Order: sequence, then structure tokens, then C-alpha cells
Amino acid sequence: MSKARLLSGMQPTGVLHLGNLEGALRNWVQLQDQYDSYFCIVDWHALTTLAERTEEIPHNVREVAIDYIAAGLDPEKCAIFVQSHVKEHAELHLLFSMITPLGWLERVPTYKEKRENLQLESVSYGLLGYPVLQAADILVYKAQVVPVGEDQLPHLELTREVARRFNYLYGEVFPEPQALLTPAARVPGLDGRKMSKSYNNAIYLSDDAQTVTQKVKQAFTDPQKVRKNDPGHPEGCVVFALHQIYSKDDAATIETECRAGQRGCVDCKMQLAGNLNTALDPLRQRRQELLAKAGELERILREGAEKARAVAQETMKEVRAAMHLE
Ligand code: TYM
Repeated sequence: MSKARLLSGMQPTGVLHLGNLEGALRNWVQLQDQYDSYFCIVDWHALTTLAERTEEIPHNVREVAIDYIAAGLDPEKCAIFVQSHVKEHAELHLLFSMITPLGWLERVPTYKEKRENLQLESVSYGLLGYPVLQAADILVYKAQVVPVGEDQLPHLELTREVARRFNYLYGEVFPEPQALLTPAARVPGLDGRKMSKSYNNAIYLSDDAQTVTQKVKQAFTDPQKVRKNDPGHPEGCVVFALHQIYSKDDAATIETECRAGQRGCVDCKMQLAGNLNTALDPLRQRRQELLAKAGELERILREGAEKARAVAQETMKEVRAAMHLE
């Protein structure tokens, strides 16, 4: 029996952080054996923030690709590729844009949030259509599963709506893809908000050990715990949230000690920094190995795009036939 298909992607708006790793990438590494897997670097999506600084994109694309592989994606098992290398995504996006009501897009929470944060008089057409392009990314491979963090669930819902509408209008072509979440579907940043490149609250996979330790020292903890012996409230503490990922076996003890006022925040942070660095060390090493092989990354991305394109072209033949566009 052939394997079910999986697609996911990340924007090359910068280098990847712990939220990207624990919310999605770790899952990808686990799932690559089980599914026919496609992992995209969505450079067209990144234009919604980098349209005036496109010169930054090639460097970011490289860094994201390196992070994917350093985290454990194996190009022998899955396709790793750049969205703009497979033009079929753009064609399907255009066709979907004709059947997607504006009202659906105006309701998408990420759009509403961005529009408010940017405080622009008028946002770009591309920003509103962002989830339509994402639907095309997923459906051009007829992917059944999409491993992502919690913030992507509204986009997945829209993808299913687009698939249903297409199938209703032109006949059954697309599956309705399902999201796959990790246990850490929303990793907090150093300030307690969602970890994000745009909030300046992130620990990056490419940060060296000293930077990681420095950042952990600045993380927000329980504001009511002022002295070492004050009882703490781990539920609202960033350091504890990260301990639950990186100090799993000790998390119960950490929680008990914190509540009982038997553990100070400084020691607690040092323990976390140590465990985080231990977890990131193998990634740092693989990153160095990859950088030492000239041309390797380019080869991986070229071959990934070829594999992806073959599937995308088959889907587009079906789509054009269904829509009488041959
Ligand atoms: P992006 O680039 O913002 O994020 C990439 C992945 O990382 C997850 N993530 C998090 N998970 C947990 N905690 C966090 N703090 C955190 N921050 C980010 C995201 O949920 C995501 O899984 N729209 C997508 C990119 C995209 C895509 C696709 C994804 C374009 N086409 C097709 C899947 C399928 C995005 O902006 O991800």
C-alpha cells in the first residue's frame, strides 16, 4: 500500500527558533518515515513581510534549509524544496483565488492580527490571499496530513473549505487535509507571548551555547516569586514551560520544588540552559557538517524541487481537466 502524503512548510523570514522546532519540525522528523513527505520553504509567503527587503530572502532560505536538515530531516526520505522553484503552487493559487469568497479571508485571525499590528491604511492583496497560497501549497500535493503548530489551525480550516468548494464545483479532486499537532503546539517566548521572530523573544536553533544561556537568564518567571524561598506558580512561568520540553524527566520534581519555595529562579534557569544546550548540540554539529560540504545544500534543494514538481504537475493536469482549462 502506498504511504499517505504529508506536506508542511515554514517562512524564510529569518532563522528558525524553538517554537518552530518543538511546534512542528520535531514532528516532521518523526513522521518522515511514515508518510510520503514534502517539506517546503515558503519564500513567496515571506514576501508578505519582506517585499521591500527581498535581498534578505536567499540567506534566510539557506538558513531554514540548514535548520531542517540539522534537526533531522533526511533528504533521502523526504523532499526538501523551495516553494518558488515549483511554479505549480502559483497556478493553483490563482485558480483557488477565483473560488474563495473574500469574507472567508477577512475572518482569518492571522490576517486580522497583522492588519492591526501593521497599522497600514491598506494592506496588500497578497496578505489577504496568504491562506489561499497556503491551501495551494498543501493541495497541489493532495496532502492528507499537515504537521503544524496551533497558530496554523485557522489556515488549515480554510484549506479544507477551499478543497470542499473546489470538489463541489468541479468534481472530487482534493482530499480534506488534517492538521497534526505536537504536545508543544504553542511554545512561549522569553516574554511569555508566543515565541515569534517578530516579537524579539526567541531562542534560535543557530544561537551558540553562550547566547542561549544569556537569553534564558532574561526569561520572564513568576512575578510573585521575588525571593528564592517564596513559593512559585509554575503554570505562568516561561522557564517551567521550557523545562516541560527540555527537562521532561525532572519536570514533576521541578514543579513540586518551585511550589514549595525550595528552588530559586536563578538555579532553575541554569538547569534549563544546560538542558537546552544539550538538546541543541547535535543540531549545531550537523549544521557544521553540512556547511563543510560545498554544493550539498543546493543539490538537496534541486532534487527536492524535482521530486515535488513531478507530483504537482500531475495534480495540475487533473485540476485543468476538471475546470475545462485544457
Ligand atoms: P511559520 O513560518 O510562521 O511557522 C512554521 C511552523 O512553526 C510553528 N510555530 C510554532 N509552534 C509552536 N509554538 C510557537 N511559538 C510557534 N511559532 C511557530 C507554526 O505553527 C508552523 O507550523 N503559514 C505558515 C507557513 C506555511 C505552511 C504552508 C505551513 C505556508 N504554507 C503549508 C504548512 C503547510 C507559517 O507562517 O508558518
